[in-house]
Amino acid sequence: MSIVHVENLKENMILADDVRDLNERLLLAKDLKIQPKHIRILKMWGITEVNVTIDEPDYEEIAIKRIDPESLERIEESTKYLFRHVDLEHPAMKELFRLSVLLKSQSDIQKTDNKNLVANAEDSKEKLIADLRNNIAYQEIKLPEIPSTVFELNEVIANPLASADDIAQVVNKSPSLAAILLKIVNSSVYAFPTKIDTIPRAVTIIGTQEISGLALGISAISIFKDIPKDMIDMNLFLKHSLACGIISRVLCAYKNITQTELLFVSGLLHDIGRLILYKYYPEQAKEILRRSASSKELLHQEEKIGLGCKHTDIGRDLLKKWKIPFSIENNVFYHHNPSDADNRTHATIVHLADIIVHSLEIGTSGERFVPNFDHKAFDSLGLSPSCFDSVIRLAMHQFDAIESFFK
Ligand SMILES: [Fe+2]
Ligand SMILES: [Fe+2]
Repeated sequence: MSIVHVENLKENMILADDVRDLNERLLLAKDLKIQPKHIRILKMWGITEVNVTIDEPDYEEIAIKRIDPESLERIEESTKYLFRHVDLEHPAMKELFRLSVLLKSQSDIQKTDNKNLVANAEDSKEKLIADLRNNIAYQEIKLPEIPSTVFELNEVIANPLASADDIAQVVNKSPSLAAILLKIVNSSVYAFPTKIDTIPRAVTIIGTQEISGLALGISAISIFKDIPKDMIDMNLFLKHSLACGIISRVLCAYKNITQTELLFVSGLLHDIGRLILYKYYPEQAKEILRRSASSKELLHQEEKIGLGCKHTDIGRDLLKKWKIPFSIENNVFYHHNPSDADNRTHATIVHLADIIVHSLEIGTSGERFVPNFDHKAFDSLGLSPSCFDSVIRLAMHQFDAIESFFK
């Protein structure tokens, strides 16, 4: 009997144990001969490893493409730059660094950095002085009213008797929200074998809480979709957010945490405070981005210097105003310093998911570096860095398929 990662399962391997989800619901029974549809089901439920009855599993070790030493050196240098704000001596960061280099040398991952911001770094020094007077104070930041869809989804989520049709009624009021939702549920993020063409069907298959949470997160982010591309590419922003949500959910499975939807929505919304700056205070936001490009400091540190607050403060205040559940607000507020959080474990999961997303450069929130790593919080989470490999393989597989959300 061997434990095999889902990505390495082969057709006709035999399951040695029942496979159950976090709520102990039976997904696949012992002695089942694995077929491609079973692998898709396992992925859909975030199951990463199963026991199979084979003596010698055909492990597919990551084959390092032969890469010339010069290119490898270049990749290592650029990855060191990406990781410049974390302690590479810590085993977790060491492992993420290794995987980041490995994946880049295999697939030539394109940097998704906002090129405009890099280009603008040149004239940054002059702007640093000239634009200081444009600073805004935290107290002056005005937060938008709650969008009606978010309000209605809040009500549906709070009602344990809400049906698939109740959710569909709210979602279908916004054709663009329904279209994005269907795009995501039909992608490899969920890997469902047949096409899901209606929202009620998506709710039935994927679950009330997950679809409501996904709809809530997407509709909250969607109110910012008209932010101009020269500020931030919203498709990349949503990709960063969705990746953080999905990885948070996958990490829950490793920690046997059952509130997966809460963590998923927290990951989706973790950087929403930045969108307030990009949409309503574009000049100041551009200035902060330029400063970070020039100083090579973390973006949230430049936010603190330029505005007297960070995107986490703005995000918390927005979610409070919109009456989003406190646990989500807690995870969003503490995602860069989970040691201080009321629910440390949950905030640490979102923190780690964000760091993994940054190390893989999936999408962007405007930050150019892997953010600071709270090793105290990570160490108390009790998670082995050896699981990063599986988590990352799963994430890369899911995100390759989604190119754009917003038209
Ligand atoms: Fe952040
Ligand atoms: Fe982030």
